[in-house]
Amino acid sequence: MNDTDKIRQDFPILQKVIYGKYPLVYLDNAATTQKPRQVVEAMTEEYYNVNANVHRGVHFLSQKATELHEASRETVRRFLNARSTSEIVFTRGTTESINLVASCFGQAFMKEGDEVILSEMEHHSNIVSWQLLQARQGIRLRIVPITDDGRLRMDEYEKLFNERTRIVSITHISNVLGTVNPIEDIIRIAHEHGVPVLIDGAQSTPHTHIDVQKLDCDFFAFSGHKIYGPTGIGVLYGKEQWLDRIPPYMGGGEMIKTVSFERTTFNELPYKFEAGTPDYVASTGLARALDYVSSVGFDCIEAHERDLTAYALQRMSEIEGMNIFGPKDIKEHAAVISFLVSLPLREGRGGSIHHLDMGTLLDRLGIAIRTGHHCAEPLMRRLGIEGTCRASFALYNTHQDIDALVAGIKRVSQMF
Ligand SMILES: Cc1ncc(COP(=O)(O)O)c(C=O)c1O
Repeated sequence: MNDTDKIRQDFPILQKVIYGKYPLVYLDNAATTQKPRQVVEAMTEEYYNVNANVHRGVHFLSQKATELHEASRETVRRFLNARSTSEIVFTRGTTESINLVASCFGQAFMKEGDEVILSEMEHHSNIVSWQLLQARQGIRLRIVPITDDGRLRMDEYEKLFNERTRIVSITHISNVLGTVNPIEDIIRIAHEHGVPVLIDGAQSTPHTHIDVQKLDCDFFAFSGHKIYGPTGIGVLYGKEQWLDRIPPYMGGGEMIKTVSFERTTFNELPYKFEAGTPDYVASTGLARALDYVSSVGFDCIEAHERDLTAYALQRMSEIEGMNIFGPKDIKEHAAVISFLVSLPLREGRGGSIHHLDMGTLLDRLGIAIRTGHHCAEPLMRRLGIEGTCRASFALYNTHQDIDALVAGIKRVSQMF
C-alpha cells in the first residue's frame, strides 16, 4: 500500500458509492476538503467526555475544555510560526477574518479618500468587506490588474501606491486560477511604502508551508474547513502591534475586562476579538487537522500535489477543445484547475459546453467538481466568461482520479 492509499483510509467518505459509482472522485477541495477520522473522532470525544463552556468555569470540565481550546491555539501558533498565541484570533473562517480587518483596521486607520489595494483575482470576501467600509467611510478600492494567463501585473501593483494607501489585501493563491502570487514581493514592496499587508490564505494553507514571521505579513487569514478541519472555525493572525491598536470587532462576553453602563474596558489579546462562546470543539478539530497535515508534511503534500497538477494539466490539455485558465508554468500553478471545453463547431454552434452542464453530467459519473463564478465575479468579467468548471486536488487524490476526470470530460464532450 502506498502513502496515498494509507491516507485515503483516514477519509471514510472517499469510500462512498454515489450513483452506483465507486470510488468517489472528489475534486472539489478548494471549496472544502474532506475530514480525516482523527478530526471527527477528536471532536466526538470532546463532546462525549469534556464538553463545558470555556474560560469562565471553575469546575473540572470547564478547565479541561479551556486547556484543550488554548492548546489548540498554541497548535495554530506553531503551524503559522507566529511569535505568540496573542496573535492568533479564532474566527468563523477566512470571510470573518477579512471582515474583521476591513472593519476594525478601517475604523482605526482609514478615512474618506484613503485607499486599499486589492487584486482582480480576489474572492468576494476580499472585495465586499472593503466595499462595506467604502460605504461607511468613503475609502477607495484600487485594483491590481492581471495578465491574460492570470498572473498579477506586478508593474501595475507598484504604481498603485501613493500617500493615501493604507493597506494591501491580496490572496496568496487564486481559488479560480490556481495562481500562486509572489506574496514575498507583494509584502516587501508594500512595506517599502510603509503599508501593512493582509494575506488571504484560504487557498494556500492546505497546500504549502506558511511562516508568518518569515513572510513578515501583518495579517493572515485562513479557514479550518479547507485544511481538513471542521466548518465554522478559522483564524486571523495579526501582528500584536496591529491587533493592539485596532478596536474590537464585536461586543459581548469574553472580550471585556470590566463592564459598566458608563465605561467598558476590553480584554487582552487575542480575547479582545473573540466575543461570545467560542467554538471550542471546532478549535480542537482544527488543531487535529493541522497536526494531521504536519504529520504528512508539506514536503510530501507539495510534491504529491505538484505531480497531480502537472499530470492533470498534461492529460487535460490532450482533450479536444480544452481551454485551461491560469498560469502555464507549474511553479506558479497550485492544485486548482479551471477549464471550459469548446463546443464542436458544427451546425453553426460555437462557445463552450456550459459549466453547469459539464458539472452536472460529471456528477452522474461519480466525479465531484465545482462550477460557476467561484465567488469571483470581477475575475470572470476580466476573463470574459460567466463561469468555469473547476477541479481542485488534495493530499488524498490520485492519478486514477485524474484519469476518471479526463475520461469523464471526454464522455460528456461527446454528448454535445
Ligand atoms: C481565496 C478565498 N478567500 C476566501 C474564501 C472564503 O472562505 P470561507 O468561506 O471559508 O470564509 C475562499 C473560499 O472559497 C477562498 O477561496
